[in-house]
Amino acid sequence: MRVVVAGGTGFIGTNLCTELDQRGHDVVALARDPTGAGLPDGVITKAADVTDRDSLDGPIAGADAVVNLVSLSPLFKPDGGDEMHDRVHRRGTEHLLDAAAEADVDRFVQMSGLGADPDAPTHFLRAKGRADETVRESELEHVIVRPSVVFGDGDEFVYFTKRLKEIFAPGVPLYPLPGGGRNRFQPIWVGDLVPMLADAVVDAEHADRTYEFGGPDVLTLREISELVFESEGRSITVVPLPMGLAKVGLTVLGSVGFPMGRDQYRSLRIDNVVSDNDVGAFGVAEADLKSFEEYLGLATETTDAADSTVTA
Ligand SMILES: NC(=O)c1ccc[n+]([C@@H]2O[C@H](COP(=O)([O-])OP(=O)(O)OC[C@H]3O[C@@H](n4cnc5c(N)ncnc54)[C@H](OP(=O)(O)O)[C@@H]3O)[C@@H](O)[C@H]2O)c1
Repeated sequence: MRVVVAGGTGFIGTNLCTELDQRGHDVVALARDPTGAGLPDGVITKAADVTDRDSLDGPIAGADAVVNLVSLSPLFKPDGGDEMHDRVHRRGTEHLLDAAAEADVDRFVQMSGLGADPDAPTHFLRAKGRADETVRESELEHVIVRPSVVFGDGDEFVYFTKRLKEIFAPGVPLYPLPGGGRNRFQPIWVGDLVPMLADAVVDAEHADRTYEFGGPDVLTLREISELVFESEGRSITVVPLPMGLAKVGLTVLGSVGFPMGRDQYRSLRIDNVVSDNDVGAFGVAEADLKSFEEYLGLATETTDAADSTVTA
């Protein structure tokens, strides 16, 4: 099968292209600048911009499936302002769907996210929600995947956690987290997510379905931050930063050129957990997924040797 992965050079994209390549598919990774992405030799790279409809025909010609992983980060304000979310996520998805329909592809896999909704409180989530609507309304057979935050080597989330501390409390063991970091996440490991995505590209039973994916634990931003610093042997004390102050702080940072703003402040108030974890549809048990603590090397291991009774 020939699979075009738009956004195939990003964090999830490089992992997915590698998985699809290992499964024997012909893989094309599409991005604005796909050079130096560290993809396997078998993966073809093509330069294209989803905001430019005409740039997509060449790379998508001959594809059996298209996966849309193109993304602007929700964690930082995009170059060009918040309206770029609509341009890249909604319009970009429309362009990809149109090019995919013209190329007669069999399936379109749309990477969305928890909370994506046309009426959501952030530009990012609204644009993602409108993009999902466009996918559902299209004639193409599709799968929509909505994960919570994804962790793994090269992710942006752990980096963001450390960056927030640098912003609000550089050089001291205090971490003033907006609202005390009470918003909840259900982090899922990229190594668990990607095989399910690869199945979604191919397996007939996933056609026209929408799936929510989360990891085995629900953690607040506070707990996540404490674990990240603990894994580096650093002890921090989280202190609540009143939301009003955080709003002013982030807006001021935005106005002095640091890429944060109202959207980022609003997203710190939104929970990011599944209503129903759909990993079971892929034959995966939630309890078998890698936990964030385990990934950071903090999980206490219960060994069979310690638990078992040896009879002579
Ligand atoms: N990472 C997470 O925690 C997470 C959680 C839930 C959902 N998701 C979703 O999963 C998908 C992938 O996320 P990710 O973390 O892998 O993103 P990422 O690392 O930021 O990668 C984004 C990719 O999109 C490409 N891209 C950006 N603008 C483009 C444009 N105008 N035209 C063509 N390509 C463009 C980038 O390459 P160039 O810059 O070279 O163009 C890159 O390949 C996104 O839909 C995201 O919303 C991610």
